[in-house]
Amino acid sequence: MQSSAIRFSCTTNPRSIVATAESHNLPSNLLRNLTLDFNELIMDIRCLTERDAATFRQLRFEALQLEPWAFTESTVEHQAMTLETIQHRLGSGAGDDNFVLGAFDAGQLVGMAGFYRRQGEKIRHRGEIWGVYVARQHRGKGLGRALLEELIRQLRSSPGLEQVALGVSTGNVSAKRLYESLGFETYGREPHALKIGDTYVDEELMVLHFAR
Ligand SMILES: CC(C)(COP(=O)(O)OP(=O)(O)OC[C@H]1O[C@@H](n2cnc3c(N)ncnc32)[C@H](O)[C@@H]1OP(=O)(O)O)[C@@H](O)C(=O)NCCC(=O)NCCS
Repeated sequence: MQSSAIRFSCTTNPRSIVATAESHNLPSNLLRNLTLDFNELIMDIRCLTERDAATFRQLRFEALQLEPWAFTESTVEHQAMTLETIQHRLGSGAGDDNFVLGAFDAGQLVGMAGFYRRQGEKIRHRGEIWGVYVARQHRGKGLGRALLEELIRQLRSSPGLEQVALGVSTGNVSAKRLYESLGFETYGREPHALKIGDTYVDEELMVLHFAR
């Protein structure tokens, strides 16, 4: 996996940074590490590696604890996973078909979005986004959009990948609006997708088709 970094300067918002990158036809491998520099705020978006395992584990735990209805994994399941397993998944177990993008504020991991693509011959044209999360104090600044736009930009150039799907709990207005604004469409609804204690959570199933 490439680890080159590019810095973008921008005085407006992250969307124009991505647009700038696209207009320059920058190769996807270089954009895997994307530095967002707008106003006085500097954000790095890059692929997580095994060196990020401990901070990933911490932020993921925060996400599962604070927003349990938004994620399939439970805190107990997450805590049962060893650091070595996470290191493997982010390190040698990662690749173009399985990676996590992280957003860093002054070196601190504050947001993330994962991608997973199964290998079966008949399902390799489909991918899944999971684990989209921005720490509460960093929300509303365009970080979630920047993460997703960069992820989708990379996926668009992934050979043979034709669509990417995700599930979002029906009451999650902010996430659903974000996905819709990026072109995702709802194709179904899964009643009782999650059961948290005695409470059920329905999920909307969304997909983005890549025009080839
Ligand atoms: C969903 C989430 C990732 C958005 O991150 P964020 O950095 O706050 O989002 P952004 O600032 O980039 O906003 C992107 C879009 O999301 C939507 N959005 C964000 N906050 C919103 C809010 N409070 N109300 C309604 N829509 C909102 C808007 O469409 C916004 O686009 P706009 O800026 O053009 O209005 C974040 O709220 C989060 O981590 N939530 C908890 C975990 C979660 O629900 N994950 C998704 C699991 S499927």
